[in-house]
Amino acid sequence: MSLSPKSAALFDRARKILPGGVSRNTLLRGAHPLYVDYGKGCKVVDVDGVERIDFANNMASHIHGHAFGPIVDAVSAQLQRGTAFTMATEAEVLFAEHMCSRSPAFDKIRFVNSGTEAVMAGMKAARAFTGRTKIAKVEGSYHGAYDYAEVSQAPTPENWGQLDHPNAVPLAQGTPKAVLTDMVIIPFNDPEKAIAVLNEHAHEIACVLIDPIPHRIGMVPVSPDFVQALRKWTTRNGALLMFDEVITFRSEVGGMQTRLKVTPDLTAMGKMIGGGFPVGALAGSNDVMEVFVNGRLPHSGTFSANPVTMTAGRVAMELFDAEAVTRLNKLGDYARASLTDAIKVADVPACVTGAGSLFRLHLKADAPRNYRDAHPTANEKAALSSLIDLLYDDGIMMIHTAAATLSTPMGTPEIDRLAESMLNALRSIRERLIDPS
Ligand SMILES: Cc1ncc(COP(=O)(O)O)c(C=O)c1O
Repeated sequence: MSLSPKSAALFDRARKILPGGVSRNTLLRGAHPLYVDYGKGCKVVDVDGVERIDFANNMASHIHGHAFGPIVDAVSAQLQRGTAFTMATEAEVLFAEHMCSRSPAFDKIRFVNSGTEAVMAGMKAARAFTGRTKIAKVEGSYHGAYDYAEVSQAPTPENWGQLDHPNAVPLAQGTPKAVLTDMVIIPFNDPEKAIAVLNEHAHEIACVLIDPIPHRIGMVPVSPDFVQALRKWTTRNGALLMFDEVITFRSEVGGMQTRLKVTPDLTAMGKMIGGGFPVGALAGSNDVMEVFVNGRLPHSGTFSANPVTMTAGRVAMELFDAEAVTRLNKLGDYARASLTDAIKVADVPACVTGAGSLFRLHLKADAPRNYRDAHPTANEKAALSSLIDLLYDDGIMMIHTAAATLSTPMGTPEIDRLAESMLNALRSIRERLIDPS
């Protein structure tokens, strides 16, 4: 990536007082992170004055882009009236009413401050409801930073074990052994193999956790037969089914669960439902959500449901209605088709996955079917990093995995720019892809 003198200078200062110079490792790539000056709509401008189209959207958390007028106005009014209280607010009631109207699976909802917290609350609610301790998750899926959720988030060929019986692999050094024992890891989109693993723990599993379009597994949507098999198995075996829709809730008014016609017992949400502010939410059926009040699961959070987030979230979600969802999903189809064309013209082994307003480019000829397929080789990793740099230099910002998320201020001109830039970048790295030596 080209030199950015002001960002480099800020990073020099940052490294002296922040480990690694940052508070989130996600920002670490290249010589230094870029420092932002401001964002407006689908554009961001860095401290050196360079403008880019933002397809990263703070890791899928801005559905209306940056500094969206209606959110700025509503939040500014709330700021004048206070930001957090040891009192309940109408803002929370209004947002909860809106969210519960979006999916038939949402009888009740609880707000927290991040997707991590939402998934953690869901796992604890499932344990409290069933009286069991084990949680099943898909190999390679990302669900935030709770110890249990981190298990097998990033296994490698050296430690992932058999495909039909994946190992439970810790992410952080020092993860307690008990955490590993209480996690059951299943292969993605393979109902037969997954059910065989689940059957070994039939009377111990509190819940099966699934992200319906898991980014780290290649952003390939979950297959209807896989999700139906999990729904059937959990119902039969007294376990709960939890959807992690922290990213995928944008797929339909009521999230991917409504497209898949599945009713999960619990749904974790976050990111875009906060309208740009820190948020998480756990929604579910009346009987399961009762654990929060019947003494089985004491649960609080100092900033949970603060009126700033509740106001921003309600405005963002009310304006992300059926029409807006459909328009953005169609734009996603256009983006996938445009990138597929670029790949053909560049004549490189690459492919595009994703659904709705989410997509990801892989430097592999065939779309991955699971985490192991999606795992990049050293050559693919290096080439991908160069590709992201080339796009950055050409005014395009993507997530470092070459994933992208759309926002409502975008239209076909932004996608055409992306496709044109991608074509040039793919041509530049072509030799490395077809001849890795
Ligand atoms: C699917 C999924 N679940 C949970 C999380 C955790 O959310 P947060 O970063 O808000 O804690 C993320 C974050 O990227 C996510 O993608």
